Amino acid sequence: MTAREFPNWEALYQDKPVETMPWFNPTLDTDVENALLTLGLSTGLVLDLGTGPGTQALALAERGFQVTATDLSETAIRGAAAKASEQGVAISFRQDDILNSHLDQSFDLILDRGCFHVLSPESRGVYVQTVANLLKPKRYLLLKCFSDQETREAGPYRFTPEEIQQIFSERFHLRSVEQTVYQGTLDPLPKALFCILEKQ
Ligand SMILES: C[S@@+](CC[C@H](N)C(=O)[O-])C[C@H]1O[C@@H](n2cnc3c(N)ncnc32)[C@H](O)[C@@H]1O
Repeated sequence: MTAREFPNWEALYQDKPVETMPWFNPTLDTDVENALLTLGLSTGLVLDLGTGPGTQALALAERGFQVTATDLSETAIRGAAAKASEQGVAISFRQDDILNSHLDQSFDLILDRGCFHVLSPESRGVYVQTVANLLKPKRYLLLKCFSDQETREAGPYRFTPEEIQQIFSERFHLRSVEQTVYQGTLDPLPKALFCILEKQ
């Protein structure tokens, strides 16, 4: 597997408007929206992990979820918090590294739209254990990541459904996995996987 390179996230959010970033999607990701319907979820404590611009956190809070949103980048968190406050939406924003997390709550749902696929292969074990420990029993992780069907050279790690199954198997049951696209500012939209993982 080729090692992939990523920006310094804090520097990136200091340098560029979030609207120009490839993952910027002003409304709730349609795969997330469909998953909420499928799982019959409309309330509860949600963690938006690696929230970046905070658009998904905002959309979830507007739908009635009690949202905590975290990111490695302090600047991203400050920008997203300012937007939520402008719109009068209550969200708990915190700078937090999921690989050395200081979160102490348990969540009903965790959304990861693009954080897992930028982590190094060596850190995936820590990620899986941490995310599982942050979820209540039998609750869900909604995971969106690049698919191995994506052919662009640059960008995050890519996965097959079998790899997702294998990486998460110790703590999660892979309830569903679909080939989809990563909605954002790139044209064409990158090929992605959308996974619903249930904590065992
Ligand atoms: C591809 S962006 C996706 C942003 C957001 N989820 C969205 O859908 O717009 C990945 C995000 O993960 C954050 N990130 C990277 N490594 C992280 C870590 N170890 N812990 C928490 N966030 C991290 C980055 O700062 C970035 O905002």
